[in-house]
Amino acid sequence: MSFFYVKPNGPLRGDVTVSGAKNAVLPIMCACMLTDEVCRISSVPPLIDVFILKEILENMGAVIEYNTKSEVMEIKVPKIKSGNYDSSLWEKIRASFLVAGSVLARTGKVKIPFPGGCKIGSRPVDLHIKGFESLGAKTKREHGFIEIKCKELKGCDIYLDFPSVGATENIMIASAAAEGTTIIENAASEPEIIDLAVFLNKMGADIKGAGTRKIVIKGVKSFKGVSHRVMPDRIEAGTFMAAAAVTHGEININNICFDHIKSAASKLEECGVRIEEKGKSILVDAKGEIKGFDIKTLPFPGFPTDMQSVFMSIMLKARGTSIVTETIFENRFMHVDEMKKMGANIKTDGRTAVVEGVKKLTGAKVKACDLRGGASLVLSALCAEGDSEISDIYHIERGYGNFDEKLRSLGAIIEKRE
Ligand code: EPZ
Repeated sequence: MSFFYVKPNGPLRGDVTVSGAKNAVLPIMCACMLTDEVCRISSVPPLIDVFILKEILENMGAVIEYNTKSEVMEIKVPKIKSGNYDSSLWEKIRASFLVAGSVLARTGKVKIPFPGGCKIGSRPVDLHIKGFESLGAKTKREHGFIEIKCKELKGCDIYLDFPSVGATENIMIASAAAEGTTIIENAASEPEIIDLAVFLNKMGADIKGAGTRKIVIKGVKSFKGVSHRVMPDRIEAGTFMAAAAVTHGEININNICFDHIKSAASKLEECGVRIEEKGKSILVDAKGEIKGFDIKTLPFPGFPTDMQSVFMSIMLKARGTSIVTETIFENRFMHVDEMKKMGANIKTDGRTAVVEGVKKLTGAKVKACDLRGGASLVLSALCAEGDSEISDIYHIERGYGNFDEKLRSLGAIIEKRE
């Protein structure tokens, strides 16, 4: 099994360019199932999750050309093939469930395995199902599959008990083809929702309010093939912002949208890092002392749960005490035990972690347990004394393309080894 070998090498310095957003490209790939015309998506990052979803869509009849050099993907779905899909593939990623809305809209029925993804919580799909049933669908769960059927989806008002990103995306896609108007109240407002709505509207949908808690979708009869460039990955941007902070470096991060990373930038300024916004780039200068700080993860525009672990790595050697409150997922501290192997001083109680900054971290053999937690272990290793090995790095490669290569370009000593 591959692992990352990391040897600390002082402050990271230089330029890095953020790739297209994993959590935007995955729902957009699923939305392509709404039409039999060619969709051309650019800035598609070469991630394990992208390759797995590509295979899932191909199993369902999609014809996909993906050039990993140009990062351009062309998807054409002449006809949707039903059948007993390979659950083991579907259980690898959370986004597999996002095909439900488009296949239901296009064919009136869909029978798919339950999704998988990072084991950061139970990750139910009840809000997705509630949305489909509100639109008139009948659902059945058996043998690890969910069957959803509806001849004619009918627009309606749907209130989400929680602003779920995936449920908002699935309901937006399905209701785009429903008869009449659908209003999603308490919708998720993450930037990835906006990118999906922009893509759907280009296809011919009529969606207003994406990016707010209230989205209004007027159903349309047909969708056309379109071209679209995926938005920058705000979580990857936040990860490199944290990399500058943990190594007291100075990094220029290109291809960002500042509004998407405002909460992260504000936290870094709070703990003593200098931030300079330069249009589609941001300069992160962390040469000074880093003070402890608190974060509480919240739905957008609050501090993103996906940045929780990488920002915790900044706290490990910060001066003083920091408190992390994780309100989105019930099991998102799996990186804590691994950080402790490096000498971190962290106490957790339920969804709260208290971090006491220490003078020194020491390199260790640690294990990535989930995507973002794995990235936080690489960052912690970059500021430890002595070499580290991070195993199970497929978790990291699910969401970060060329992560080691980008870190090396900034001066890090990191190698992928077998
Ligand atoms: C998306 O997951 C992202 N994944 C996650 O990113 C991200 O952490 C999450 O949104 C929150 O921002 C993708 O976009 C592929 P949710 P999703 O539905 O859609 C509960 C990463 O590292 N919930 O907003 O699964 C759920 O249990 C990944 O890139 C229900 O109760 O997130 C959780 O507590 C990790 N019922 C909360 O809502 C439902 O039907 C947030 O989940 C759905 C969700």
